[in-house]
Amino acid sequence: HGGPGGQVKGLSFGPIQTQDAAVDAFTVPEGYEWSAIVRWGDPILPGGRSFDAANQSPEQQKLQFGYNVDYLDILPSDPRDQKNMVETRRGTRGLLVTNHEYTNREIMFPAEMDAAKGRAIERAAHGMSVVEVARRREGQPWSYLRVAPRNRRIHMETEFVVDGPVAGNDLLKTVEDPTGTRVRGTLNNCAGGTTPWGTVLSGEENWNGYFKVAAGNPRSQRYGIGTAATRYGWELDDPRFDATTPGYENEPHRFGWVVELDPYDPQAAPVKHTAMGRFKHEGANIIVAPDGRVVAYMGDDEAFDYVYKFVSRNKMKPGDDRRSRAFNKTLLSEGDLYVARFAGDSPAAEIDGRATVPSDGAFDGTGQWLPLVVDGVSHVPGMSVAEVLTFTRLAGDAVGATKMDRPEDVEPSPFTGNVYVACTNNSSRGNTGAKEAATEMNPRNQNRDGHIVEIVEGDEQTGTEFTWNLLLVAGDPSVNGSTYFSGYPKDKVSPISCPDNVAFDLKGNLWISTDGQPSSIAKCDGLFRVTLTGAERGKVEQFLATPRSSEACGPLVDLRDQMVYVNVQHPGDDGSFAAQTSFFPDYVAEGATPAAGDWRGPRPSTIQVYKKRR
Ligand code: FEO
Ligand code: CA
Ligand code: CA
Ligand code: CA
Repeated sequence: HGGPGGQVKGLSFGPIQTQDAAVDAFTVPEGYEWSAIVRWGDPILPGGRSFDAANQSPEQQKLQFGYNVDYLDILPSDPRDQKNMVETRRGTRGLLVTNHEYTNREIMFPAEMDAAKGRAIERAAHGMSVVEVARRREGQPWSYLRVAPRNRRIHMETEFVVDGPVAGNDLLKTVEDPTGTRVRGTLNNCAGGTTPWGTVLSGEENWNGYFKVAAGNPRSQRYGIGTAATRYGWELDDPRFDATTPGYENEPHRFGWVVELDPYDPQAAPVKHTAMGRFKHEGANIIVAPDGRVVAYMGDDEAFDYVYKFVSRNKMKPGDDRRSRAFNKTLLSEGDLYVARFAGDSPAAEIDGRATVPSDGAFDGTGQWLPLVVDGVSHVPGMSVAEVLTFTRLAGDAVGATKMDRPEDVEPSPFTGNVYVACTNNSSRGNTGAKEAATEMNPRNQNRDGHIVEIVEGDEQTGTEFTWNLLLVAGDPSVNGSTYFSGYPKDKVSPISCPDNVAFDLKGNLWISTDGQPSSIAKCDGLFRVTLTGAERGKVEQFLATPRSSEACGPLVDLRDQMVYVNVQHPGDDGSFAAQTSFFPDYVAEGATPAAGDWRGPRPSTIQVYKKRR
């Protein structure tokens, strides 16, 4: 692994004050300013019209930027310049790629909106976007291009190709797709990762909420798929969302995968990779092992669910044609899948709930990657390879994987290979009837604030043994005695709760964005820098806060440009279309009044933060 960039300067800022949960503002440190690059409803394809809040249509939404932005990266215009999120030089022309996880109809449309039309708009607002962006000079803010050759919308009607061991299997066949290899659409795309060959991975997360299934099926139950009418109601429009419809029983099996999108080729169908398993994928993040195989780390975001690792069978070809990247785009189609088992080394009594640190001074221990599928062979008794990959949660149950507190982003540092697992929270741990009480790696009962696990892999990155420790046990240390910051003084950190997405900067620092602070510590969510090495390991500094009732997603920190990017998801979702609680991002000056008919948001948006120019 290379060392962090020497010549590049770290981001210089004084931590912001925490913002009370009711504050509707995008708050940045002194000396910085921000602007939106692209907002929900902005036209990105020919024929797209400027957003008109009162007159939306499914047809227009397919030509416009989608809703609830989550994963985010800006890739260089030429794929040969792509390295990874941290080291890539972005230049003056780029491809902004983002996920659109879900929709909030109460704040998207007037209450009078025709229900069926509203659902069609919602389907068109899901998925992903690719938007070309440009700027005059490096380090300056970007503008998006309304018409550009690689602009693209992925939505519920976009055709995906299925690959890997389950492609074509009976488990994926429906009357609409008797081949089991073609799927319309992607659902609930949450976090993701950019590959070194210039594609974007995206996790299909809470897809279960879009389907209705027959009662009494333990496999469906393990994935939390309901048997009643869904919240989205799409089964009223398309029989495939009601899996009790004859011929559509397998439709839910066609979601829950890691998706790979090639933003450089607008004609290429995105791919669902079955080799990486099916669960509620938060995302997937890649590191190239010293032997050239690629290793992907993945979390299943559910209370008491698991952390996974995928190791490709083949090695990345750095000399692969960097324009087509045809070989490297097959790397995630075949490989080995493992699930994590963690063991602590301190007595459980020492680490329950309210205690701060175990008796040996550290939350730490050892772990193993338990094989699920290796060399094309199932290691789970009674389950075929296709079953392990399609019902991966049940495979993890069978081999005794460790139940974690909602593992969200799981990401390797490109500099050390250490892997950071954001366990966002699990307020039911230790409750009566819960699956498990506190353990050393999930050390709090009723864990409302979450924690960060640091996995230290062997030098080869592909092995099955590791050690681990907790970098942070999150919370507001002024009111919560069970917080822990790797020994860094608690009176010198920004309060942080509910870690969700993680990223790295060129200095090797970890950045964490949060989702849930309004309910856990009554503060707006935000983005935080965490020092990982030296005397300041565990120091947490808040860089920005997002508006009322929103979360900060997809952080991207570019130290070459001294710029920071976040996606602001579900701003003002405690309000309604008519009675907004957020006017992000098109605020009017304090005291000013918008003109009549000037609808001011909220609009989920991709935001750039940069130093104020004099
Ligand atoms: Fe969509 Fe796990 O957050
Ligand atoms: Ca210990
Ligand atoms: Ca998330
Ligand atoms: Ca990330």
